[in-house]
Amino acid sequence: MYDIYKVRKEFPMLNGKKMQGHDLVYLDNASTTFKPRCVIDAMNEYYEDYTANSHRGDYDLCYKAETKVNEARRKIAEFINSDVNEVVFTSGDTEALNLVAYGYGLKFLTKDDAILLSKSEHASNTLPWFKISNMTGCHIYFVDTDKNMITPENVKKAFSEHPNIKVVAFAHVGNVLGYRIDIEEITKITHEHGAIIVVDGAQSVPHVKTDFKKLDIDFLSFSAHKMCGPTGVGVLIGKYDLLQKMDTFLTGGGMNESFNSNIECVPYDAPRKFEAGTQNVAGIIGFGAAIDFINEIGLENIEKHEEEIHTYLLEQIKDIDGIIIYNNDHESNLFTFNRKGVFAQDEGTLFNSKGIAVRTGQHCAKMLDELICEVATVRASFYLYTTKEEIDVFVDALRSGGDILDAYFND
Ligand code: ALA
Repeated sequence: MYDIYKVRKEFPMLNGKKMQGHDLVYLDNASTTFKPRCVIDAMNEYYEDYTANSHRGDYDLCYKAETKVNEARRKIAEFINSDVNEVVFTSGDTEALNLVAYGYGLKFLTKDDAILLSKSEHASNTLPWFKISNMTGCHIYFVDTDKNMITPENVKKAFSEHPNIKVVAFAHVGNVLGYRIDIEEITKITHEHGAIIVVDGAQSVPHVKTDFKKLDIDFLSFSAHKMCGPTGVGVLIGKYDLLQKMDTFLTGGGMNESFNSNIECVPYDAPRKFEAGTQNVAGIIGFGAAIDFINEIGLENIEKHEEEIHTYLLEQIKDIDGIIIYNNDHESNLFTFNRKGVFAQDEGTLFNSKGIAVRTGQHCAKMLDELICEVATVRASFYLYTTKEEIDVFVDALRSGGDILDAYFND
C-alpha cells in the first residue's frame, strides 16, 4: 500500500512551506521535482565527509568518491536496464541530446540525409538537430500527427515520403501535452528503415518503467532533477557500439588515455570518453540516492498514483465552464489548459496569488502552437507526492478564478 503522507514527510519542501501566505501547492513537477531528505543527505555527506575528485587520485577519499560514482552508474543502469558502460553522465537531458547530435549527427549525417522530428518537441530535442542541419546540410522533416499525437503510421508515412531519414528524435512523453508515444513500435519501424532512434525520456523515465534493452532504443536521455534528484546532472544512455563509434563532444581532462605534441589524442572507451572535466560528483551521488528512493516507492506505484490524481482532477472540473483542456485523453501526469479569453500568464499569476505553482507560456516547445493553434498554455503537473487535497485547492482556484479574472478585466 502506497502511503503518500508518509512519503511526503521525506521532503523538506513539502513540510509547511508557504507562498503568498498560503500553504504551497506545487504543481510544476514537469519542470523540476522536490528532493527527499535522503538525496540532500547523500550530497551533504559527500561535501562534509569525503570530498575529493573521482578518477584522479590514489588516496582513500578519492577512492571513496570514485566508488560512489561507480555505484550511481550501476544503479542507473539497473534502473533503465542498460549495461553499466552504456551510461554517460552529462549535466542534464539537454547536454545528453547535444552529445548525440554533435557526437553522432555531425559525424554520420550528410547533406543527402534527413532527421525526423515532431512539432511538439522541447527545444532540447530540436535546436541541437537544427544546428546539425545547418552544419551538415542535412534535411529536417516534421512527422504528421493524429490529434496532435505521433502514431507508428505517421512514422511509416514519413519514411515512405523521405527514405533518406537517418535519425528519428522524439520525446517518449511530450512535455506540454503529455502524450506517450508507442516507442517500441516506432523504434521497430525506424530500424527497419536503417535509421536510429533518439528518445528524450525527460518526461517519461521519472514516471513509467522504461526498459532500454527491451525497447531496443539507440539513445535515451533524462535528467535527475525531474525524478527527485539534484539539478545539473543527467545521463545519455546509448548502445555501446554506437557510443564507441561516436565522436567525443567535450574534450579535456579525464576523457583521454594520452595526447602528444603531434596533436594526437587517444580517448578512453565509452562512457569515459564523453566525461571531460571534473564531473558533478555530488550531483551524481545524489542521482544514485534518488534512484534508490524511487525504487523503494516503485515506479508502478508512481504511475498508478499519478493516474488516480489525473482522473480525480478531470472528475472535479467537469462542471467548470470556459476551460479549454488540450490533453484530457491521455495517461500522463500533465494537465494543460487555458481559460477562454484569458492569457495563460495572467492565469498563472492568479494561481500564484493562491499559493499554487503551475507553469505557463510555451514550455520550451515553441513549434507546438502550429499544432494546437495557441501560443501559451497553463500546465499543472503532478508527481508521486501530489495529494487529492492539493488538487481540491487547485480546482477551487480554477472555479473561483473565473470571477476574479472577470472582475479584473472589467475594472
Ligand atoms: N523541460 C522543463 C519543462 O517542460 C523545464 O517544464
